[in-house]
Amino acid sequence: MKILVTGGAGFIGSHVADGYLAAGHEVAIADNLLSGNAANVPAGARLHLVDIAAAEFDLVVERERPDVVNHHAAQMSVTVSARDPGLDARINCGGLLNVLQSCVRHGVERFVMISSGGAVYGDVDQRPTSEQVTPQPLSPYAIHKLTGERYLEFYRHQYGLSSIALRYGNVYGPRQDQYGEAGVVAIFIGKLLRGEPPTIFAYPDQPTGMSRDYVYVQDVVRANLRAIESDAIGAFNIAGGVPVRTGELFRAVQAACGTDLKAATGPARPGDLKENWLDVSHAERVLGWCPEVSLADGLAYTVAHFREAVKRTKET
Ligand SMILES: NC(=O)c1ccc[n+]([C@@H]2O[C@H](COP(=O)([O-])OP(=O)(O)OC[C@H]3O[C@@H](n4cnc5c(N)ncnc54)[C@H](O)[C@@H]3O)[C@@H](O)[C@H]2O)c1
Repeated sequence: MKILVTGGAGFIGSHVADGYLAAGHEVAIADNLLSGNAANVPAGARLHLVDIAAAEFDLVVERERPDVVNHHAAQMSVTVSARDPGLDARINCGGLLNVLQSCVRHGVERFVMISSGGAVYGDVDQRPTSEQVTPQPLSPYAIHKLTGERYLEFYRHQYGLSSIALRYGNVYGPRQDQYGEAGVVAIFIGKLLRGEPPTIFAYPDQPTGMSRDYVYVQDVVRANLRAIESDAIGAFNIAGGVPVRTGELFRAVQAACGTDLKAATGPARPGDLKENWLDVSHAERVLGWCPEVSLADGLAYTVAHFREAVKRTKET
C-alpha cells in the first residue's frame, strides 16, 4: 500500500513510518518540522515540508495519491494547549479538516487518526477506562482530539471514508523530545543522564504523583499496522493497561539510568489529569493487538538509545 504519514518527522510518526516500510509499504511523509526533526525521517520515505493546515497540503496528496493517510501531525502538548487554545485548534482541528478534505478529494481509502486516551476521558471514575465511557475532556488538546474523532464520523457517514482513531496512552521510547513540555519519560531520562534533578509535578493530595498508562513506541507501531490491515472503525485505546504513578515511574527511570539522583517536586500544571488507566481489551478483541513490552524493558531500551545518542553527539 502507499501510505502518507503526517507528522512522520516526529517521535511516534517516524517509528510508524519505519514500521510501514519494514512491512513492505511505500511511505511518504508530510511534516512542517514544528516539533519534528528531518533526521528522524527514514531513508526510504519521501519528506514533503508542508503545513497540514495550508492549501499546499492538497498538492502533496494529489501528487502522492496514497491509499492510506496516517495522521500523526499535531500540537501534542496539553500544557501548550491550555496556554494557547487557538493554536491547538488551528493545528488539531483546522489541520485535521484540511487533511480530511484532501483525502475525500483524492480518493484516500483508509484514514488513521491519532487521538489521546491519556487526555480525552478527563478524570472519570471508571478505571480502567474503556471506550464505552463518555469522555469528559478537560483541556483544549483533549477537546480538539475528541472533536477530531467526531469529524471522522461525519466523513465516514457523508463520504464513506473508512477511519479508525487510536487513543494512545503515554507513549515513550527512542527519539522522544527530552526538552519538550510533554513526554515525562524522555524528560526524566534526559535530565538524569545530564546529572540534573527532574521535577515531579503533583497535586497536593497525591504525594506520589498522578497515575499514567505508559506504552512503548514499538507496541504503538504494531497497533498502526493492525489499523491498516483491518477495516475496524471507531476509537481504540492503545496503552500498556497498567497505571503507574509519576513517583514510581521516576524510581524505574532512576534504576534504568543507574543513578540515585533525587527529583524535585512542583505543582500540577493546567490541564493535568489526576488519574489515567486505560482498558485495552477492545483493541485485543477487534484488532488482535495487545501491549508486549514491559515498562522495565521499554525503559532499558530507551535509556540505551539516549546514551548512544549522547555518545554520537560527543564523537561528532
Ligand atoms: N507522545 C504521546 O505520549 C502521545 C499520546 C497521545 C497522543 N499522541 C499523539 O501522537 C501524535 C504524535 O505525537 P508525538 O509525541 O510523536 O509528537 P511530535 O511533536 O514528536 O510529533 C508531531 C509531529 O507533527 C508535526 N507537526 C506539528 N504541526 C504540524 C503542522 N501544522 N503541519 C505539519 N506537521 C506538523 C511536527 O513537526 C512533528 O514532527 C500526535 O497526534 C499526538 O497528539 C502522542
